[in-house]
Amino acid sequence: MSFLQLENVRFCYPNGFEAVQDLSVDFRLGEAVAIIGQNGAGKTTAVKLMNGLLRPASGRVLIDGQETASLTTAQMAQHVGYVFQNPDDQIFQETIEKEIAFGPKKQKLPAAVVQERVHEAAEICGLMDVLKEHPYNLPYSKRKFITIAAVMTMDPEIVILDEPTAGQDRESTELLGKLIKILTDKNKTVITITHDMEFVVKEFQRVLVFAEKQLRKEGTPREIFWNEELLQFSALKQPYICQLAKALNFQGVMTMEELGKKVVG
Ligand SMILES: Nc1ncnc2c1ncn2[C@@H]1O[C@H](COP(=O)(O)OP(=O)(O)O)[C@@H](O)[C@H]1O
Ligand SMILES: [Mg+2]
Repeated sequence: MSFLQLENVRFCYPNGFEAVQDLSVDFRLGEAVAIIGQNGAGKTTAVKLMNGLLRPASGRVLIDGQETASLTTAQMAQHVGYVFQNPDDQIFQETIEKEIAFGPKKQKLPAAVVQERVHEAAEICGLMDVLKEHPYNLPYSKRKFITIAAVMTMDPEIVILDEPTAGQDRESTELLGKLIKILTDKNKTVITITHDMEFVVKEFQRVLVFAEKQLRKEGTPREIFWNEELLQFSALKQPYICQLAKALNFQGVMTMEELGKKVVG
C-alpha cells in the first residue's frame, strides 16, 4: 500500500507561473526513488508539494491515506522530511549539534532520545567530530550532510533529498548511497533528485523522469536509460556505461559486468 500519494496535483507560483501540471504519483514505504530531469522541469516544486512547503492549486496530497489539506506544514514535515537543494536555505543554528537537535527538540522528545538521535544521525553523516562547530566552518558539500542529519533526527517515514550529489566528491557520493540504504533498510522511503546518472543506476530501482512540468515517465534504470526517445525529449544523457555500450552496439547494457560479458562472448 502506498504511504504518500499525489493525485492530479497542479501548482502555480504567485506570479502565475505554472510549474507542475497534473502530477499523479505514489510512494510505498521502504523504497528508494530517484527523480531526474532538466533544470526547471519542476522537480523541486513537486517535492515541496509532497511535504507541504507548497500547496496544490488543485488535486490532492495524501499521507497514509489521509488528505493533507487540513494539516500544517509542521505536521506534514513529521512524516515527510525535505532536505533543501541549497543547505544554506535550511541552516540557522550556530552549532552543528544544535542544528541537528532542533527538530526532535521541537517535537518535545525527552533529552535522552534527542541525544541518541543526534548521535546516530551524526555518526551516519560523518559529523561526530564537528558537532560543536559552527555549520559555516564546513564547506558547502559537508553542510549538505548537516541538513540531511537534521531531517533524519525528526525520524520521518519519507526523506526527500534535493540534489544531494551536487558538488560531492566520490567518497561523499558513496556515503550518500550508504545512507539511502540505511534508511530504506529501516523501511523509510527515500526520494532523491539528482543529475548524477551513475548514482541513479547504482542506488535506485525506480526512476521518475520530469520534463516540462510533468512526470513524463517512470521505470527501472534500464527502462529509462535505454528509452532514447524519452531521453531526447527530456534532454537527458545516458550514463557513461550505456553510452559506451551503445557505441559498441550492445543495447540494454547497464553495468561494467554486463558489458564485459557482451565483449568476451
Ligand atoms: N518562486 C518562484 N516563482 C516563480 N517561478 C518559480 C519559482 N520557483 C521556481 N519557479 C519556476 O518554476 C519552474 C520549476 O522550478 P523547479 O521546481 O525549481 O525546477 P527544478 O527543480 O526541476 O530545476 C522553473 O521554471 C522555475 O523558474
Ligand atoms: Mg531543483
